[in-house]
Amino acid sequence: MEWKIIHIDETDSTNHWLKSQQCGEDSFSVNVDLHKKNRHLCVLADYQTAGRGCGTNTWESERGKNLTFSLLIYPTEVPANRQFAISEWVSVALCETLEQYIYNKVEIKWPNDIYVEGKKIAGILIENTLKGDHIKESIIGIGLNVNQQEFLSNAPNPVSLCQLLGHEVDREALLMRFLQRKPLVPTEGTDCFSYRNRLYRKGQLATYQDQNGCFKATIMDVEPDGRLVMVDEEGRERRYAFKEVQFIIENSLT
Ligand code: BTN
Repeated sequence: MEWKIIHIDETDSTNHWLKSQQCGEDSFSVNVDLHKKNRHLCVLADYQTAGRGCGTNTWESERGKNLTFSLLIYPTEVPANRQFAISEWVSVALCETLEQYIYNKVEIKWPNDIYVEGKKIAGILIENTLKGDHIKESIIGIGLNVNQQEFLSNAPNPVSLCQLLGHEVDREALLMRFLQRKPLVPTEGTDCFSYRNRLYRKGQLATYQDQNGCFKATIMDVEPDGRLVMVDEEGRERRYAFKEVQFIIENSLT
């Protein structure tokens, strides 16, 4: 099975673009049968007017400089309680793709930010639809900083491939390398270990913040459901779901 790629000049958000097509909103006319089942789609925009990050964050991306795209896949074999397998799959796929360009270690900051040398090069926004106890479909939005040289938003620590390499990179070739990576959809077990081996700060004592304030802890593992497992300075085990704990990086919360 192959990807159907739709390249558009401008939209508010590629995640929203895919969702509105699915709901039948007539916001953009496109000559493709989006509803044909099991067709994997990739929607790429040169510019997003309202690019979304996780939670209430926005996603900054200069027009025509980076990769901002969303995938629509049907990982119907993935049980709802293993939704995190999609984060594992896409995070590892991005790391492996970036390692074809740079020698630096590419790491995953839990749950799914892609980091190089302590800076964020890519962010992922996953929105799943469930049917019973399985996933029906998944929209995976990816913002990958490719050729942007200057970042204007207050995002704490962005970096682009161009800044790391010292030269621009062909965005289309980069996208093709990512999409050609196998497996095409999450497959249980494949990326589980690689995800955990690439965890940013794993085994290192560092500072975090939860609802009770700052504390120091060491990341030990990630549970199959995606919860982060840490051990604090007092030797107590702590488990956190997404958004329950923040990393303190360069005096910012991320
Ligand atoms: C994050 O790190 O907070 C997630 C960022 C995800 C950004 C991408 S860009 C393509 C897709 N469309 C969006 O509006 N957001 C995602």
